[in-house]
Amino acid sequence: METVTTVAELRSIVKQWKKEGKSIGFVPTMGYLHEGHGSLISRARENDRVVVSIFVNPMQFGENEDFSSYPRDFERDCRFCGSLGTDIVFHPDPSEIYASDFCTFVDMSRLTENLCGKSRPGHFRGVCTVVAKLLNIVNPDRAYFGEKDAQQLAVIKRMVRDLNIDVEIIGCPIVREHDGLAKSSRNTYLNGDERKAALVLNKALSYAEMLAKKGVTDPETITSAMIELIKSEPLAKVDYVKAVNSITMEDIEKINPQTLIAIAVYIGKTRLIDNLIVR
Ligand code: PAF
Repeated sequence: METVTTVAELRSIVKQWKKEGKSIGFVPTMGYLHEGHGSLISRARENDRVVVSIFVNPMQFGENEDFSSYPRDFERDCRFCGSLGTDIVFHPDPSEIYASDFCTFVDMSRLTENLCGKSRPGHFRGVCTVVAKLLNIVNPDRAYFGEKDAQQLAVIKRMVRDLNIDVEIIGCPIVREHDGLAKSSRNTYLNGDERKAALVLNKALSYAEMLAKKGVTDPETITSAMIELIKSEPLAKVDYVKAVNSITMEDIEKINPQTLIAIAVYIGKTRLIDNLIVR
């Protein structure tokens, strides 16, 4: 496995692979990798070559968010990538990605106006801009994203469609801890009590699933019941609990198959997200 830090070097390797007719799978990450990322890398092995980027993208963090404290462990990440058969880890410096006079952005309306887009203004502008740039740099056949970030996945699929970017976007299932907590690099912020309290996210989603299975179709009835359950956990504070169309991210009037139930909850100071699609 090779580590590459410049766009020029990565492009020249990719150019050679393309000449040889190799297919390329790409997994963009912000590092501090866990089994969720591992499942994306393993799936990406369906291509001849796999590139993983590790770049904590400053543009997608708000002013009061956790950019500087975001967990980082590059050596460990490299070992993890190597063990899963990654060919290249792309680890650019922010100055390699954003020139000092950088002024071009990819912005999206509609899909970014609800859920995390509402709670984190500017977040998806940063995500779309960096993902568009990374796709231009790596030029992969397929790129892999986790379904835990359901809105991000929908936004990226739409960006790729709207901007005619020549790549297939593949969503991969949420990977959970043994007790149901969705894997996230931010879980590392949780202390012992918070880690236990964080189970309330999955509990609330399971409750919603049970209500939907019983035939409850009113989104308000389901989301209110979820909010009540989350409120019973003293360390938890609801950011949002929503039932939306899983493609447009718009609120819906009736729960149906393919409805996305998405939640964001603060456990202490840590904001965690999780979701399920009603089947
Ligand atoms: O999901 C993430 O880790 C990031 O949002 C991404 C897609 C790597 C862009 O920085």
